[in-house]
Amino acid sequence: MIPVGNPAIGADFINREGELALILSTLEKDSVLLIAPRRFGKTSIMRRVEKELSDRGEICVFLEVENVNSPHHFISEITMALIENEKIEQKTKLIPAFEKCFNWFRDNIEEIGISVFKAKLRSNIEKDLENDWMGESKQIFDIIAGLDSNICFIIDEFPIALEKMVLTDRDDFLHWFRKLRQISGNLRFIVGGSVSIDRVVRDAGGVSVINDFRRVHIGGFSREVALDLIEKMFEDEGWKYESSFGDKILECIGETNIPYFIAIMLSAIKEEMILRGGEMSAELIENIYNFRILSNEGKHYFEHYHQRLRIYYDDLELKAARTILRNVCNVDHYPIDLAYGIYKKETAIDNYEQFMDLLANLSNDFYIEHNNEKGLNFYSKILKDWWRIYHGGI
Ligand SMILES: Nc1ncnc2c1ncn2[C@@H]1O[C@H](COP(=O)(O)OP(=O)(O)O)[C@@H](O)[C@H]1O
Ligand SMILES: [Mg+2]
Repeated sequence: MIPVGNPAIGADFINREGELALILSTLEKDSVLLIAPRRFGKTSIMRRVEKELSDRGEICVFLEVENVNSPHHFISEITMALIENEKIEQKTKLIPAFEKCFNWFRDNIEEIGISVFKAKLRSNIEKDLENDWMGESKQIFDIIAGLDSNICFIIDEFPIALEKMVLTDRDDFLHWFRKLRQISGNLRFIVGGSVSIDRVVRDAGGVSVINDFRRVHIGGFSREVALDLIEKMFEDEGWKYESSFGDKILECIGETNIPYFIAIMLSAIKEEMILRGGEMSAELIENIYNFRILSNEGKHYFEHYHQRLRIYYDDLELKAARTILRNVCNVDHYPIDLAYGIYKKETAIDNYEQFMDLLANLSNDFYIEHNNEKGLNFYSKILKDWWRIYHGGI
């Protein structure tokens, strides 16, 4: 059974050979920006790349920065992660160099024990960086750039950390980070996150501060991979399988074959089989979709998408976005001019460019797709079905 929510690692991780090969080959020259909405499998891929690089003997540091909210915190997290990395110790002289340069290490690890040592180290590093993170971090990165090993940093939920920084810090940080990538030939970064990074950098630095990243888009699984996964799961569970079952599951969740949605369908089917047993059929699968996934029981799966609007959109945009989405979820293709009408009415702003900005944000955040011929539609069928039930009343 694949996990429902936690990153898929080890034997649970399937497919993605193409994406992995692309990321690994890109890393030879460039840093990578992974682009995909929440739950598409970014963290799983990042963890896989980490393992791949570590198995090859390379130094790879994975960090989750969702709770980071300032440049000095970011840099102290990176520094700690490096210090804690086993390969760093084996392959480089980083620790002795740090010991020589900084008095963070003055405590004796034998005397105070590893966990206390680490806690003190972390707070000392943070304190050091707090007043002048740019100046202090120069010393740290001079040492790192002087190592003769390549180091790959994998930074998950990067846009969230950026978003949490106050605007001036974000601006300074993005410029500093850009320069760091330019001058440190032995460093590579893979950054990813579920919030659109383009929106986060727009007010601080603009796209030019991230345009050296090579963008790798992560989509859903191909139909074949998704069907194989479903069939295998049926076999593992000892359920009878017919191709119409796989077709029905994919029909319910929609074309994009998003791994997470497959996982929640399979786990709901499993729950149903355990609780009630019964004969597997396409009809049963459809019922499970309607009465488990889309019912109150499944409400929490998607509530995030609704709440996130309030966090990332200002009041007027929020009002317009909600009304537009409410209309779009009820039809197949919603005309753009009608959406513009809604925008003008809800915001009292008659500015087509600003309206198009809002559509761009909604599409970068993976709510909708839009093109001039077909108008607006939800990006994911399952989210559209869910939206229609909970937020689609007109
Ligand atoms: N390669 C994969 N193999 C199997 N399941 C996957 C894979 N990628 C994603 N999933 C499914 O999607 C869920 C979310 O994956 P995750 O990597 O956490 O996504 P993200 O970081 O984009 O939010 C996992 O719990 C799992 O159910
Ligand atoms: Mg993730």
